[in-house]
Amino acid sequence: MLKNDLFLRALKGETVSRPPVWMMRQAGRYLPEFMALREKYDFFTRCQTPELASEITVQPIRRYGMDAAILFSDILVIPQAMDIEVQMKPNFGPFLPHPIRKPQDLDAVVVPDVNKTLGYVMEAITQTKEKLDDEIPLIGFAGSPWTILCYCVEGQGSKSFDKARGFCFTQPEAAHQLLQKITDTTIAYLQAKVRAGVNAVQIFDSWGGMLSPQDYQEFSWKYIQQIVDGLKEETPVIVFGKGCWFALREMASSGASAVGVDWTCAPKSARYLTGGNITLQGNFDPARLLSPPKKIKEMVTDMINGFGKDKYIVNLGHGILPTIPLENAQAFIDAVKEYGS
Ligand code: CP3
Repeated sequence: MLKNDLFLRALKGETVSRPPVWMMRQAGRYLPEFMALREKYDFFTRCQTPELASEITVQPIRRYGMDAAILFSDILVIPQAMDIEVQMKPNFGPFLPHPIRKPQDLDAVVVPDVNKTLGYVMEAITQTKEKLDDEIPLIGFAGSPWTILCYCVEGQGSKSFDKARGFCFTQPEAAHQLLQKITDTTIAYLQAKVRAGVNAVQIFDSWGGMLSPQDYQEFSWKYIQQIVDGLKEETPVIVFGKGCWFALREMASSGASAVGVDWTCAPKSARYLTGGNITLQGNFDPARLLSPPKKIKEMVTDMINGFGKDKYIVNLGHGILPTIPLENAQAFIDAVKEYGS
């Protein structure tokens, strides 16, 4: 039994004294203890070494006491396991030297045995669970197939992912083949993570908002729905799409336990669009953590009042920025813990 199960209770829609809180990308570059490890080990060494990945996962918990931990890893371990080379270049971000641009490029892309290729993630989960000592739940995650395709085709980050969209629109058959391979790998991967001990999973559709509502259905949502179907009997699933307010209705009726919202959608609009009954997660503007702590606390209280304290998980509307002062992140967490007292 978990000592603090607020997060899991909010996912079930139970009444709680205050909403749980965690922050997307909470293990990372705004923390000095993370930067110390970053000096010594490159990115994928940190991901692939269970001692390091589990240590980085619990760093923000030790400092702030969030109500859930998220395993330190990356969405791009999936293409890596599918034999698509992925590098993480300092001061540049992800770089894939052999991007997928034509149907023949798919021949080399495999649906791997995830226990072999991603066994290090399962070991990191085991070690993290030991370190957490049943205090709080652990979240596992994966990128959405569309968001992974964006990197596989573009070969790097992008503001608009034009090449990825162009690939889908000019070679839809190849795009669907790639999306299906990513989906099959992701379902097996998340199921293995659940067996290894994660208490919930989140799907990040970081680039879903690049697609029109109609194209979103065809190239993103269809595949996310398969993942939800493959996981929902085993664990609570959270679906988060950045810029995807137009898909909130499908997300809410997909069988997912919760739906993530970004900061461009007001709490009341998100409740309206999702039918008022599902647990929502979000949606503080990550740049608003640059406001003075007093202002952050006021805004967090307003946000909780806007969503309502039940069926709600406090979070940012996207990942925390590396420039956020430590005391501002503290004010965000404290405001939630002080809510209603
Ligand atoms: O809370 C956590 O930090 C958990 C770990 C986590 C990372 N990446 C570690 C990471 C999670 C949940 C992710 C998800 C991820 N990765 C997403 C989806 C969420 C989002 O932010 O939209 C995406 C799109 C990626 C791909 C990715 N990884 C990019 C674009 C970059 C470079 C830009 C950046 O954020 O630094 C990464 C690298 C990365 N992933 C870092 C970390 C801590 C920074 C690099 C480093 O530490 O050397």
